[in-house]
Amino acid sequence: MHNCIILIGFMGAGKTCVGHALEQALSLPLIDTDEWIEKKEQKTINEIFGENGEAYFRDLETETLRELIDLKAPGGTGHANEETGSPKPRTGTCEAIISVGGGLPVRKENRELLRKLGTVFYLEASEEILIRRLRGDQTRPKLQGGSLEDRIRTLMEQREQLYIEAADVRISTDGKSVEESAEAVISHFRV
Ligand code: S3P
Repeated sequence: MHNCIILIGFMGAGKTCVGHALEQALSLPLIDTDEWIEKKEQKTINEIFGENGEAYFRDLETETLRELIDLKAPGGTGHANEETGSPKPRTGTCEAIISVGGGLPVRKENRELLRKLGTVFYLEASEEILIRRLRGDQTRPKLQGGSLEDRIRTLMEQREQLYIEAADVRISTDGKSVEESAEAVISHFRV
């Protein structure tokens, strides 16, 4: 696939919710890289981190992106590239929505693979909102232990610039409903 809508952003930024809203609005398949990996490994993300380590998980993320690039569009034609000759057609030919794990764009190779997969949207959310949404979460190994605020702040400092580098479009989700964020994505994709 080469013409997908890709959602990146920090844990809790709303990638999954906005992904589902886009799935509904555009009648396109939604692929979540975390779910893809969990299904393939028959383990939860927590189990993969605990039993195999983070480096192993990060390799699986890169492998997943390669698999998605090689995948034929589920139900779509996927011929837009050949028809238009354009490396990134933006209208009417979207093949799928792909929501990726919050740490995936950190690897340079992954940022390059994301660009091959389609248009990358960075869903931005303020630290306050992230803290509120992620409080008590036990499914994300990167947030376990110590102060949640410190963990979010440190990871954000390490990642924000990389998200910006990876993104074609930045969408601020603060003050927007899930549907409004989805609409913002759609309006940019159709430009
Ligand atoms: C991670 C984010 C998670 C998941 C894993 C690691 C990260 O995905 O891939 O727990 O390093 O930010 P979400 O962003 O969907 O929570």
